[in-house]
Amino acid sequence: MKIDILTIFPEMFTGFINSSIIKRAINDKKVEINIHNFRDYSKDPHKCVDDYPYGGGQGMVLMPQPIFDAVEDLKNSDTKIILLSPQGTKYNQKKAYELAKEKNLMFICGHYEGFDERIRTLVDEEISIGDYVLTGGELASMVITDSVVRLIPGVINENSHLKESFNDGLLDYPVYTRPADFRGLKVPEVLLSGHHANIEKYRQEERIRITREKRPDLLKK
Ligand code: ADE
Repeated sequence: MKIDILTIFPEMFTGFINSSIIKRAINDKKVEINIHNFRDYSKDPHKCVDDYPYGGGQGMVLMPQPIFDAVEDLKNSDTKIILLSPQGTKYNQKKAYELAKEKNLMFICGHYEGFDERIRTLVDEEISIGDYVLTGGELASMVITDSVVRLIPGVINENSHLKESFNDGLLDYPVYTRPADFRGLKVPEVLLSGHHANIEKYRQEERIRITREKRPDLLKK
């Protein structure tokens, strides 16, 4: 999979693409992540990317020209173009699985007070990562990239995401490691028993209990 991210703050991605699982997935050629500064596409003599809003109002608006030129230069017939915005459809694990099947994702990160409405004509989908407003789409693009890349076959052990939170509408079961007794806080006896069927049963019951307690809305679905 190839992921192209269009931003005017490429430096925000340095830690993200050079750490942990994402770094390994890039090194193992499971994913190619390209960060593009769409300021480079500005035809303005000062490389300006924003301007005052018509009709007046607060703040600056990202203008269409640099983003249109960047998208037209970088996209191909396999590219799915995604605009990050609080107005988008709310992101979830189901969407992560859907996006993980794509060959090329392109994220457009808006900034400042907003972007020219005509930029919406370029995109296949508009996604929000939650009901709150970020200063730009960069963090949202990292959230989506992270959750998609870990689903690419071979990036992490597949068994570890088959039973994790949200896959079947239930949250994950609790896990413990050594010591069996830490400051009087004991690991549940069943986990020390070596009885696999009982452990499986305990874990499934815990998933239901925890989901009922923390996210009853998931059980209703
Ligand atoms: N840009 C600003 N806020 C956002 C959000 N909640 N989701 C995606 N992109 C955004």
